[in-house]
Amino acid sequence: MSSDRDLLSINPLFTRDGEARERPRFQMTDDEMLPETAYQIVHDESMLDGNARMNLATFVGTWMEPQAAQLYADTFDRNMIDKDEYPATAAIEERCWRILADLWNAPDPAQAIGTSTIGSSEACMLGGLALKRRWQHRRRAAGQSTEKPNLVMSSAVQVCWEKFTNYWDVEARLVPISEEHPTLDGHELAQYVDENTIGVVAILGVTYTGAYEPVQKVAAALDDIQAATGLDIPIHIDGASGAFIAPFLQPELEWDFRCERVHSINTSGHKYGLVFPGVGWIVWRSRECLPDDLIMTVSYLGGEMPTFALNFSRPGAQVLLQYYNFLRLGRNGYAAVQGANRDVAQYLAHAIGEFEAFDLWNDGSDIPVFAWRLAAGHTDNWDLYDLSAQLRQRGWLVPAYPMPDDLADLTVQRVVVRNGLSMDLADSLLDSIRDCTDYLDGLSSPLPKTRRNTTSFHH
Ligand SMILES: Cc1ncc(COP(=O)(O)O)c(C=O)c1O
Repeated sequence: MSSDRDLLSINPLFTRDGEARERPRFQMTDDEMLPETAYQIVHDESMLDGNARMNLATFVGTWMEPQAAQLYADTFDRNMIDKDEYPATAAIEERCWRILADLWNAPDPAQAIGTSTIGSSEACMLGGLALKRRWQHRRRAAGQSTEKPNLVMSSAVQVCWEKFTNYWDVEARLVPISEEHPTLDGHELAQYVDENTIGVVAILGVTYTGAYEPVQKVAAALDDIQAATGLDIPIHIDGASGAFIAPFLQPELEWDFRCERVHSINTSGHKYGLVFPGVGWIVWRSRECLPDDLIMTVSYLGGEMPTFALNFSRPGAQVLLQYYNFLRLGRNGYAAVQGANRDVAQYLAHAIGEFEAFDLWNDGSDIPVFAWRLAAGHTDNWDLYDLSAQLRQRGWLVPAYPMPDDLADLTVQRVVVRNGLSMDLADSLLDSIRDCTDYLDGLSSPLPKTRRNTTSFHH
Protein backbone atom coordinates (compact mmCIF):
# COMPACT_ATOMS: atom_id res chain seq x y z
CA MET A 1 0.00 0.00 0.00
CA SER A 2 1.42 3.38 -0.92
CA SER A 3 1.92 5.93 1.80
CA ASP A 4 0.38 9.39 1.66
CA ARG A 5 3.83 10.77 0.99
CA ASP A 6 3.77 9.10 -2.46
CA LEU A 7 0.67 11.05 -3.44
CA LEU A 8 1.97 13.96 -5.44
CA SER A 9 -1.02 16.14 -4.67
CA ILE A 10 -0.08 15.97 -0.98
CA ASN A 11 3.66 16.09 -1.43
CA PRO A 12 4.73 19.76 -0.95
CA LEU A 13 6.07 21.29 -4.15
CA PHE A 14 9.70 21.68 -3.17
CA THR A 15 9.94 18.11 -1.82
CA ARG A 16 9.00 16.59 -5.18
CA ASP A 17 11.09 14.80 -7.71
CA GLY A 18 12.69 17.46 -9.87
CA GLU A 19 12.71 20.01 -7.06
CA ALA A 20 14.20 18.04 -4.15
CA ARG A 21 16.19 15.66 -6.34
CA GLU A 22 18.39 16.54 -9.26
CA ARG A 23 17.11 16.11 -12.83
CA PRO A 24 19.49 15.95 -15.78
CA ARG A 25 19.85 19.36 -17.38
CA PHE A 26 21.28 18.43 -20.72
CA GLN A 27 19.29 15.29 -21.56
CA MET A 28 15.58 14.68 -21.87
CA THR A 29 14.37 12.40 -19.09
CA ASP A 30 12.17 9.35 -19.78
CA ASP A 31 9.54 10.35 -17.27
CA GLU A 32 7.01 13.12 -17.29
CA MET A 33 6.72 15.73 -14.57
CA LEU A 34 3.69 17.43 -13.13
CA PRO A 35 2.97 20.72 -14.91
CA GLU A 36 3.18 22.79 -11.73
CA THR A 37 6.59 21.31 -10.91
CA ALA A 38 7.88 22.03 -14.43
CA TYR A 39 6.45 25.53 -14.23
CA GLN A 40 8.09 26.19 -10.88
CA ILE A 41 11.50 24.95 -12.01
CA VAL A 42 11.56 27.11 -15.15
CA HIS A 43 10.01 30.08 -13.39
CA ASP A 44 12.54 29.93 -10.58
CA GLU A 45 15.54 29.52 -12.82
CA SER A 46 14.43 32.55 -14.85
CA MET A 47 14.41 34.55 -11.58
CA LEU A 48 18.19 34.48 -11.89
CA ASP A 49 17.99 36.74 -14.94
CA GLY A 50 18.53 40.42 -14.29
CA ASN A 51 15.45 42.52 -13.58
CA ALA A 52 14.26 43.57 -17.06
CA ARG A 53 13.05 47.00 -15.91
CA MET A 54 16.50 47.74 -14.43
CA ASN A 55 18.21 46.61 -17.63
CA LEU A 56 19.41 49.95 -18.99
CA ALA A 57 21.50 48.17 -21.63
CA THR A 58 18.60 47.21 -23.86
CA PHE A 59 16.53 49.30 -26.24
CA VAL A 60 13.83 46.65 -26.26
CA GLY A 61 10.45 47.11 -24.58
CA THR A 62 10.11 45.82 -21.03
CA TRP A 63 6.77 47.35 -20.10
CA MET A 64 3.32 47.41 -21.65
CA GLU A 65 0.06 48.25 -19.97
CA PRO A 66 -2.26 45.50 -18.68
CA GLN A 67 -4.67 45.75 -21.64
CA ALA A 68 -1.77 45.08 -23.99
CA ALA A 69 -0.65 42.13 -21.86
CA GLN A 70 -4.22 40.82 -22.08
CA LEU A 71 -4.25 41.23 -25.86
CA TYR A 72 -0.92 39.41 -26.02
CA ALA A 73 -2.32 36.51 -23.99
CA ASP A 74 -5.43 36.45 -26.23
CA THR A 75 -3.42 36.22 -29.46
CA PHE A 76 -0.10 34.51 -28.83
CA ASP A 77 -1.29 31.60 -30.99
CA ARG A 78 -1.42 33.75 -34.15
CA ASN A 79 1.16 32.88 -36.82
CA MET A 80 1.91 35.94 -38.95
CA ILE A 81 2.46 33.91 -42.12
CA ASP A 82 -1.00 32.28 -42.05
CA LYS A 83 -2.57 35.19 -43.90
CA ASP A 84 -5.38 33.04 -45.24
CA GLU A 85 -6.29 31.66 -41.83
CA TYR A 86 -5.79 34.94 -39.95
CA PRO A 87 -6.91 37.58 -42.45
CA ALA A 88 -7.63 40.11 -39.70
CA THR A 89 -4.05 39.96 -38.43
CA ALA A 90 -2.82 40.25 -42.04
CA ALA A 91 -5.01 43.32 -42.62
CA ILE A 92 -3.77 44.92 -39.40
CA GLU A 93 -0.17 44.28 -40.42
CA GLU A 94 -0.75 46.20 -43.66
CA ARG A 95 -2.48 49.02 -41.76
CA CYS A 96 0.56 49.31 -39.48
CA TRP A 97 3.15 49.72 -42.23
CA ARG A 98 0.88 52.13 -44.07
CA ILE A 99 0.62 54.18 -40.88
CA LEU A 100 4.43 54.18 -40.71
CA ALA A 101 4.72 55.19 -44.40
CA ASP A 102 2.50 58.16 -43.61
CA LEU A 103 4.36 58.96 -40.38
CA TRP A 104 7.64 58.92 -42.32
CA ASN A 105 6.24 61.24 -45.00
CA ALA A 106 6.17 58.87 -47.99
CA PRO A 107 5.35 61.13 -50.96
CA ASP A 108 2.40 58.90 -51.90
CA PRO A 109 1.65 56.41 -49.09
CA ALA A 110 -0.59 54.47 -51.49
CA GLN A 111 2.51 53.69 -53.59
CA ALA A 112 4.65 52.72 -50.59
CA ILE A 113 5.24 49.07 -49.72
CA GLY A 114 6.32 47.50 -46.47
CA THR A 115 6.18 44.56 -44.12
CA SER A 116 6.55 43.55 -40.52
CA THR A 117 9.61 41.51 -39.54
CA ILE A 118 10.88 39.82 -36.41
CA GLY A 119 12.99 42.90 -35.61
CA SER A 120 15.24 45.50 -37.18
CA SER A 121 17.91 42.94 -38.03
CA GLU A 122 15.60 41.12 -40.42
CA ALA A 123 14.30 44.45 -41.73
CA CYS A 124 17.88 45.60 -42.42
CA MET A 125 18.59 42.37 -44.31
CA LEU A 126 15.55 43.05 -46.50
CA GLY A 127 16.54 46.69 -47.03
CA GLY A 128 20.07 45.68 -47.98
CA LEU A 129 18.83 42.92 -50.30
CA ALA A 130 16.55 45.35 -52.14
CA LEU A 131 19.48 47.76 -52.63
CA LYS A 132 21.69 44.95 -53.88
CA ARG A 133 19.12 43.51 -56.28
CA ARG A 134 18.26 46.93 -57.75
CA TRP A 135 21.94 47.63 -58.31
CA GLN A 136 22.37 44.19 -59.95
CA HIS A 137 19.44 44.80 -62.32
CA ARG A 138 20.79 48.19 -63.35
CA ARG A 139 24.31 46.87 -63.89
CA ARG A 140 23.19 43.78 -65.81
CA ALA A 141 20.94 45.86 -68.05
CA ALA A 142 23.98 48.01 -68.86
CA GLY A 143 26.17 44.93 -69.46
CA GLN A 144 28.33 45.76 -66.43
CA SER A 145 29.86 43.48 -63.80
CA THR A 146 27.90 42.62 -60.64
CA GLU A 147 30.86 40.89 -59.01
CA LYS A 148 31.80 43.38 -56.33
CA PRO A 149 28.92 45.16 -54.61
CA ASN A 150 29.74 47.35 -51.62
CA LEU A 151 27.69 49.11 -48.95
CA VAL A 152 28.94 52.31 -47.33
CA MET A 153 28.19 53.06 -43.66
CA SER A 154 29.79 54.32 -40.48
CA SER A 155 32.08 52.10 -38.42
CA ALA A 156 29.51 52.46 -35.62
CA VAL A 157 26.81 50.42 -37.40
CA GLN A 158 24.94 47.78 -35.48
CA VAL A 159 26.19 44.22 -35.94
CA CYS A 160 23.21 43.38 -38.20
CA TRP A 161 24.94 45.30 -41.02
CA GLU A 162 28.09 43.24 -40.59
CA LYS A 163 25.83 40.20 -40.86
CA PHE A 164 24.16 41.54 -43.98
CA THR A 165 27.43 42.19 -45.78
CA ASN A 166 28.87 38.87 -44.62
CA TYR A 167 25.84 36.69 -45.44
CA TRP A 168 25.12 38.29 -48.81
CA ASP A 169 28.65 38.78 -50.10
CA VAL A 170 28.70 42.54 -50.07
CA GLU A 171 31.85 44.45 -49.16
CA ALA A 172 31.35 46.54 -46.02
CA ARG A 173 32.93 49.96 -46.55
CA LEU A 174 33.12 51.43 -43.08
CA VAL A 175 33.71 55.15 -42.68
CA PRO A 176 35.57 55.44 -39.36
CA ILE A 177 34.05 57.70 -36.73
CA SER A 178 36.36 60.04 -34.82
CA GLU A 179 36.19 62.78 -32.20
CA GLU A 180 35.77 65.33 -35.05
CA HIS A 181 33.24 63.21 -36.97
CA PRO A 182 31.41 61.16 -34.35
CA THR A 183 28.79 60.09 -36.91
CA LEU A 184 28.58 59.50 -40.67
CA ASP A 185 28.16 63.09 -41.84
CA GLY A 186 29.15 63.07 -45.51
CA HIS A 187 32.77 63.98 -44.74
CA GLU A 188 35.06 62.46 -47.40
CA LEU A 189 32.18 60.26 -48.59
CA ALA A 190 33.43 60.49 -52.18
CA GLN A 191 36.44 58.41 -51.15
CA TYR A 192 34.20 55.53 -50.18
CA VAL A 193 31.55 55.30 -52.90
CA ASP A 194 31.99 54.11 -56.46
CA GLU A 195 29.99 52.46 -59.25
CA ASN A 196 29.73 49.27 -57.14
CA THR A 197 28.09 51.01 -54.18
CA ILE A 198 24.60 49.58 -53.72
CA GLY A 199 23.69 52.25 -51.16
CA VAL A 200 24.64 54.20 -48.06
CA VAL A 201 23.22 53.40 -44.63
CA ALA A 202 22.49 56.29 -42.29
CA ILE A 203 21.62 55.47 -38.69
CA LEU A 204 18.95 57.36 -36.85
CA GLY A 205 20.14 56.77 -33.36
CA VAL A 206 23.65 55.26 -33.38
CA THR A 207 23.59 52.24 -31.09
CA TYR A 208 26.76 53.25 -29.22
CA THR A 209 25.58 56.70 -28.21
CA GLY A 210 22.06 57.41 -29.46
CA ALA A 211 23.21 60.28 -31.70
CA TYR A 212 21.45 60.86 -35.05
CA GLU A 213 23.49 60.72 -38.23
CA PRO A 214 22.73 63.89 -40.24
CA VAL A 215 20.78 62.41 -43.15
CA GLN A 216 20.53 65.74 -44.97
CA LYS A 217 24.30 66.18 -44.94
CA VAL A 218 24.84 62.63 -46.22
CA ALA A 219 22.25 63.24 -48.95
CA ALA A 220 23.91 66.55 -49.89
CA ALA A 221 27.30 64.82 -50.18
CA LEU A 222 25.68 62.18 -52.44
CA ASP A 223 24.11 64.98 -54.54
CA ASP A 224 27.58 66.45 -55.06
CA ILE A 225 28.93 63.02 -55.95
CA GLN A 226 26.13 62.54 -58.47
CA ALA A 227 26.79 65.95 -60.00
CA ALA A 228 30.48 65.10 -60.37
CA THR A 229 30.27 61.42 -61.42
CA GLY A 230 26.69 60.63 -62.44
CA LEU A 231 26.41 57.98 -59.70
CA ASP A 232 22.92 57.99 -58.19
CA ILE A 233 23.31 56.29 -54.81
CA PRO A 234 20.28 55.62 -52.59
CA ILE A 235 20.14 55.84 -48.79
CA HIS A 236 18.67 53.29 -46.42
CA ILE A 237 17.79 54.65 -42.99
CA ASP A 238 18.44 52.33 -40.07
CA GLY A 239 15.90 53.94 -37.77
CA ALA A 240 15.84 50.98 -35.35
CA SER A 241 15.30 53.41 -32.48
CA GLY A 242 15.03 56.89 -33.97
CA ALA A 243 12.29 56.26 -36.53
CA PHE A 244 9.88 56.02 -33.60
CA ILE A 245 11.36 59.09 -31.87
CA ALA A 246 12.09 61.73 -34.52
CA PRO A 247 8.50 61.95 -35.90
CA PHE A 248 7.30 62.88 -32.42
CA LEU A 249 10.18 64.79 -30.82
CA GLN A 250 11.96 66.36 -33.82
CA PRO A 251 9.19 66.65 -36.46
CA GLU A 252 11.11 69.38 -38.30
CA LEU A 253 14.15 67.13 -38.88
CA GLU A 254 14.08 65.94 -42.52
CA TRP A 255 15.58 62.48 -42.12
CA ASP A 256 12.78 60.45 -43.74
CA PHE A 257 11.07 60.09 -47.15
CA ARG A 258 11.02 63.89 -47.41
CA CYS A 259 14.62 63.34 -48.47
CA GLU A 260 14.37 61.93 -52.00
CA ARG A 261 17.45 59.76 -51.72
CA VAL A 262 15.89 57.77 -48.89
CA HIS A 263 14.57 54.59 -50.50
CA SER A 264 13.76 52.60 -47.39
CA ILE A 265 13.48 52.90 -43.62
CA ASN A 266 13.50 50.20 -40.95
CA THR A 267 12.56 50.40 -37.32
CA SER A 268 12.05 48.12 -34.33
CA GLY A 269 8.46 48.05 -33.13
CA HIS A 270 9.89 46.46 -30.00
CA LYS A 271 12.14 49.44 -29.23
CA TYR A 272 10.55 52.89 -29.16
CA GLY A 273 7.52 51.42 -30.97
CA LEU A 274 6.80 50.35 -27.37
CA VAL A 275 5.92 46.69 -28.04
CA PHE A 276 7.36 43.62 -26.31
CA PRO A 277 10.00 41.76 -28.40
CA GLY A 278 9.93 40.88 -31.38
CA VAL A 279 8.55 43.01 -34.12
CA GLY A 280 10.28 45.19 -36.68
CA TRP A 281 9.15 47.11 -39.75
CA ILE A 282 10.50 48.16 -43.09
CA VAL A 283 8.88 50.51 -45.59
CA TRP A 284 10.05 51.40 -49.12
CA ARG A 285 9.09 54.81 -50.49
CA SER A 286 7.52 53.21 -53.60
CA ARG A 287 7.16 49.88 -55.37
CA GLU A 288 10.08 50.70 -57.72
CA CYS A 289 12.50 50.54 -54.78
CA LEU A 290 11.66 46.88 -54.10
CA PRO A 291 12.42 44.67 -57.12
CA ASP A 292 9.55 42.33 -58.01
CA ASP A 293 11.79 39.28 -58.19
CA LEU A 294 12.39 39.46 -54.42
CA ILE A 295 8.70 39.07 -53.68
CA MET A 296 7.07 35.70 -52.97
CA THR A 297 3.36 35.05 -52.66
CA VAL A 298 1.29 33.29 -49.99
CA SER A 299 -2.38 32.46 -50.19
CA TYR A 300 -4.77 34.97 -48.71
CA LEU A 301 -8.55 34.80 -48.73
CA GLY A 302 -8.57 32.46 -51.68
CA GLY A 303 -6.22 34.76 -53.58
CA GLU A 304 -2.55 35.58 -53.30
CA MET A 305 -0.68 38.08 -51.16
CA PRO A 306 2.87 39.30 -51.78
CA THR A 307 5.40 38.75 -48.99
CA PHE A 308 9.06 39.59 -48.62
CA ALA A 309 10.65 38.14 -45.48
CA LEU A 310 13.39 35.81 -44.31
CA ASN A 311 11.28 33.92 -41.79
CA PHE A 312 8.19 31.93 -42.69
CA SER A 313 6.45 31.41 -39.34
CA ARG A 314 6.71 34.10 -36.70
CA PRO A 315 4.46 35.54 -34.01
CA GLY A 316 1.55 37.69 -35.15
CA ALA A 317 0.61 38.93 -31.66
CA GLN A 318 3.28 41.64 -31.63
CA VAL A 319 1.85 43.10 -34.82
CA LEU A 320 -1.53 43.33 -33.09
CA LEU A 321 0.19 44.95 -30.10
CA GLN A 322 1.78 47.50 -32.42
CA TYR A 323 -1.64 48.40 -33.76
CA TYR A 324 -2.95 48.56 -30.19
CA ASN A 325 -0.31 51.22 -29.45
CA PHE A 326 -1.16 53.16 -32.60
CA LEU A 327 -4.82 53.27 -31.54
CA ARG A 328 -4.16 53.78 -27.85
CA LEU A 329 -1.51 56.48 -28.11
CA GLY A 330 -2.00 58.28 -31.40
CA ARG A 331 0.58 60.92 -32.28
CA ASN A 332 0.05 62.89 -29.09
CA GLY A 333 0.37 59.83 -26.87
CA TYR A 334 3.60 58.74 -28.57
CA ALA A 335 4.92 62.30 -28.25
CA ALA A 336 4.04 62.28 -24.53
CA VAL A 337 5.76 58.93 -23.87
CA GLN A 338 8.88 59.76 -25.88
CA GLY A 339 8.97 63.27 -24.38
CA ALA A 340 8.89 61.82 -20.86
CA ASN A 341 11.72 59.45 -21.83
CA ARG A 342 13.75 62.36 -23.17
CA ASP A 343 13.14 64.41 -20.01
CA VAL A 344 14.41 61.56 -17.85
CA ALA A 345 17.39 60.98 -20.17
CA GLN A 346 18.39 64.64 -20.12
CA TYR A 347 17.87 64.89 -16.38
CA LEU A 348 20.12 61.89 -15.81
CA ALA A 349 22.68 63.02 -18.39
CA HIS A 350 23.01 66.47 -16.87
CA ALA A 351 23.29 65.05 -13.36
CA ILE A 352 25.97 62.56 -14.45
CA GLY A 353 27.77 65.32 -16.37
CA GLU A 354 28.06 67.21 -13.05
CA PHE A 355 30.10 64.37 -11.52
CA GLU A 356 33.78 65.26 -11.34
CA ALA A 357 34.56 61.71 -12.45
CA PHE A 358 32.69 61.87 -15.77
CA ASP A 359 32.51 63.71 -19.07
CA LEU A 360 29.33 63.38 -21.10
CA TRP A 361 29.64 62.02 -24.65
CA ASN A 362 26.12 63.18 -25.51
CA ASP A 363 23.06 64.27 -23.54
CA GLY A 364 20.07 62.27 -24.78
CA SER A 365 18.62 65.05 -26.92
CA ASP A 366 18.35 62.86 -30.06
CA ILE A 367 16.98 59.52 -28.88
CA PRO A 368 16.67 59.21 -25.07
CA VAL A 369 20.04 57.48 -24.85
CA PHE A 370 23.27 58.98 -23.63
CA ALA A 371 26.81 57.94 -22.84
CA TRP A 372 29.67 59.24 -20.77
CA ARG A 373 33.35 58.55 -20.31
CA LEU A 374 35.73 58.78 -17.39
CA ALA A 375 37.12 62.31 -17.11
CA ALA A 376 40.75 62.44 -18.29
CA GLY A 377 43.14 62.16 -15.36
CA HIS A 378 40.39 61.39 -12.82
CA THR A 379 41.81 58.08 -11.60
CA ASP A 380 43.97 55.10 -12.49
CA ASN A 381 42.42 52.96 -9.77
CA TRP A 382 39.20 52.07 -11.50
CA ASP A 383 37.41 52.37 -14.83
CA LEU A 384 33.88 52.27 -16.19
CA TYR A 385 33.88 48.46 -16.28
CA ASP A 386 34.39 48.55 -12.51
CA LEU A 387 31.53 50.99 -12.13
CA SER A 388 29.35 48.73 -14.29
CA ALA A 389 30.20 45.76 -12.03
CA GLN A 390 29.43 47.78 -8.90
CA LEU A 391 26.06 48.90 -10.29
CA ARG A 392 25.26 45.34 -11.24
CA GLN A 393 25.56 44.32 -7.60
CA ARG A 394 22.70 46.73 -6.92
CA GLY A 395 20.59 45.32 -9.74
CA TRP A 396 21.28 48.07 -12.32
CA LEU A 397 22.55 46.87 -15.70
CA VAL A 398 24.51 49.76 -17.21
CA PRO A 399 27.02 48.54 -19.80
CA ALA A 400 30.52 49.88 -20.41
CA TYR A 401 32.15 49.15 -23.76
CA PRO A 402 34.81 50.40 -26.16
CA MET A 403 33.85 52.66 -29.06
CA PRO A 404 34.52 51.21 -32.54
CA ASP A 405 37.72 51.20 -34.58
CA ASP A 406 39.55 54.54 -34.50
CA LEU A 407 38.04 55.31 -31.09
CA ALA A 408 38.61 51.82 -29.68
CA ASP A 409 40.79 53.22 -26.87
CA LEU A 410 37.81 55.15 -25.60
CA THR A 411 35.49 53.39 -23.15
CA VAL A 412 32.01 54.76 -22.63
CA GLN A 413 29.09 53.81 -20.44
CA ARG A 414 25.55 54.11 -21.75
CA VAL A 415 22.02 54.41 -20.40
CA VAL A 416 18.97 53.69 -22.57
CA VAL A 417 15.91 55.38 -21.08
CA ARG A 418 12.75 53.47 -21.93
CA ASN A 419 9.08 53.78 -21.12
CA GLY A 420 8.91 52.78 -17.45
CA LEU A 421 12.10 54.45 -16.16
CA SER A 422 10.39 57.06 -14.02
CA MET A 423 12.03 60.13 -12.47
CA ASP A 424 11.80 58.30 -9.16
CA LEU A 425 13.74 55.30 -10.49
CA ALA A 426 16.16 57.69 -12.21
CA ASP A 427 16.88 59.30 -8.83
CA SER A 428 17.52 55.85 -7.34
CA LEU A 429 19.91 55.12 -10.19
CA LEU A 430 21.72 58.41 -9.56
CA ASP A 431 22.02 57.54 -5.85
CA SER A 432 23.55 54.20 -6.81
CA ILE A 433 25.98 55.80 -9.27
CA ARG A 434 26.98 58.31 -6.59
CA ASP A 435 27.51 55.63 -3.93
CA CYS A 436 29.44 53.35 -6.28
CA THR A 437 31.62 56.21 -7.54
CA ASP A 438 32.38 57.31 -3.96
CA TYR A 439 33.28 53.75 -3.06
CA LEU A 440 35.58 53.39 -6.09
CA ASP A 441 37.17 56.79 -5.49
CA GLY A 442 37.91 55.65 -1.93
CA LEU A 443 40.08 52.74 -3.11
CA SER A 444 43.72 53.20 -2.18
CA SER A 445 45.12 50.97 -4.92
CA PRO A 446 44.14 50.05 -8.51
CA LEU A 447 41.60 47.29 -9.12
CA PRO A 448 42.88 44.45 -11.33
CA LYS A 449 42.01 45.14 -14.98
CA THR A 450 40.40 41.79 -15.52
CA ARG A 451 36.71 42.53 -15.62
CA ARG A 452 35.46 43.40 -19.06
CA ASN A 453 32.06 43.42 -20.71
CA THR A 454 30.36 42.97 -17.39
CA THR A 455 27.07 43.74 -19.00
CA SER A 456 26.23 42.59 -22.50
CA PHE A 457 25.93 45.39 -24.98
CA HIS A 458 23.59 45.31 -27.94
CA HIS A 459 25.80 46.53 -30.74
C1 LIG B 1 20.85 51.00 -35.11
C2 LIG B 1 20.39 49.59 -34.89
N1 LIG B 1 20.12 48.80 -35.96
C3 LIG B 1 19.68 47.54 -35.83
C4 LIG B 1 19.49 46.98 -34.58
C5 LIG B 1 19.01 45.56 -34.47
O1 LIG B 1 17.68 45.59 -34.07
P1 LIG B 1 16.86 44.31 -33.57
O2 LIG B 1 17.37 44.02 -32.21
O3 LIG B 1 15.44 44.82 -33.60
O4 LIG B 1 17.10 43.21 -34.54
C6 LIG B 1 19.76 47.75 -33.43
C7 LIG B 1 19.60 47.17 -32.08
O5 LIG B 1 20.03 47.72 -31.09
C8 LIG B 1 20.20 49.10 -33.59
O6 LIG B 1 20.46 49.87 -32.53
